[in-house]
Amino acid sequence: MRSAVIPSLALVLLSRTAGADTSLSIDPTSNWGTWEGWGVSLAWWAKAFGNRDDLANVFFTRNNQVINGQNLPGLGFNIARYNAGACSTNTYNGSSMVVSSSIKPSRQVDGYWLDWASTDPASSSWNWNVDANQRAMLQKAKANGANIFELFSNSPMWWMCLNHNPSGSGSSDNLQSWNYQNHAVYLANIAQHAQQNWGIQFQSVEAFNEPSSGWGPTGTQEGCHFAVSTMATVIGYLNTELAQRGLSSFVSASDETSYDLAISTWQGLGSSAQNVVKRVNVHGYQGGGGRRDTLYSLVSQAGKRLWNSEYGDADASGKSMYTNLLLDFTWLHPTAWVYWQAIDGSGWGLIVGDNDQLTLSSANTKYFVLAQLTRHIRPGMQILTTPDGNTAVAYDSGSQKLVIVAANWGSAQTITFDLTRAKTAGSNGATVPRWSTQTSGGDQYKSYSDTKINNGKFSVSFSTGQVQTFEISGVVLK
Ligand SMILES: *[C@@H]1O[C@H](CO)[C@@H](O)[C@H](O)[C@H]1NC(C)=O
Repeated sequence: MRSAVIPSLALVLLSRTAGADTSLSIDPTSNWGTWEGWGVSLAWWAKAFGNRDDLANVFFTRNNQVINGQNLPGLGFNIARYNAGACSTNTYNGSSMVVSSSIKPSRQVDGYWLDWASTDPASSSWNWNVDANQRAMLQKAKANGANIFELFSNSPMWWMCLNHNPSGSGSSDNLQSWNYQNHAVYLANIAQHAQQNWGIQFQSVEAFNEPSSGWGPTGTQEGCHFAVSTMATVIGYLNTELAQRGLSSFVSASDETSYDLAISTWQGLGSSAQNVVKRVNVHGYQGGGGRRDTLYSLVSQAGKRLWNSEYGDADASGKSMYTNLLLDFTWLHPTAWVYWQAIDGSGWGLIVGDNDQLTLSSANTKYFVLAQLTRHIRPGMQILTTPDGNTAVAYDSGSQKLVIVAANWGSAQTITFDLTRAKTAGSNGATVPRWSTQTSGGDQYKSYSDTKINNGKFSVSFSTGQVQTFEISGVVLK
């Protein structure tokens, strides 16, 4: 008798130490809105590499593309944010740009409005030939299928700034009051010129970038602090200037660095500025902190859209990006998510590169982690409730396809996905194609067809740090 008992006890203990397995139930009644898409800001990497068709292909299509000898699955971004530059090297009436000692040339984005002699975009105060590379990538994005474009500013033109330094003046306003309207004219003229000459219609125009932050004169990039009341004034001007040109572009704001600053800025803008803002943009630099839920409540109650319009971090593995993105899916409920720089060093880029030396290296693991999401959760899909903080769920009613992206950060375990609350939970025995990326080394968006649906459920083993995507066909939610 003892010899029969001991092995079964041992089996129980073994399965316990292998990790407490999880079952996740998909809620078919949930709906957090229609996904608008995934994207990237152009700016520095596009100024450096914007003339390259292979990079346009790898970021804006889902084709395979060899970059620097590595065959990469295209990310399929459909959103591109174009950065209206703040820099020019001319002198006007004895004034010229003051340059931060720390700014890299790749981060000095050439602006179109050279001096304050004329607001007329056809006059010699404007040079529409600068910034050719970033513009080229914008147009290549469109040619490859991107369909949502935003125009954004990191700083007003240098000459509009009090200290003539487009890196900022610290935690005080750096836009001179006589240029509040000019900053709006600058952006509206670019939007109009883009529509007439570049074949680009900007859906939205954003006049600020992390405006409550302190952007100093020795900063490493363009930046400008705005008081909330100044933001409200500029928003009013921008809305008027866009409308006067007959543009359909709307105003987005305020691209604060954190969820909590986005809350206080939104509350401080006042009703007339709030009324003309159609979408709140927030950046994801608060990581795991901040009241995403409060921001979502405020913005959705005001009837506005909400994007995470800029995310970046230095964790090349993709774990930080995935966990923060899933916090967004769980609490913030954005309808789009935009990465900052596609090419950069120090873990920040999706592909490792140097925007000054113009060198490219291999893709970081985070590239493949992002592919697990961007290639499968597509524009137009319905976003469902995350059953836990690690799992994104989306549904395409047209093709009756359910997409699940899940990660496991604890001990290795088996996760069972339970679709049985749906009206039709896939067809019994059908293969569930899956894709896998292991953030601590191993699979890089590797595809498998070894998983089958069994009475509305399927079970998959996860190693520590593994991200997997599943596509289940024949799902009718309700
Ligand atoms: C040029 O600079 C002078 C001296 O600072 C100033 O008085 C004048 O108003 C400026 N002209 C323009 C067009 O800004």
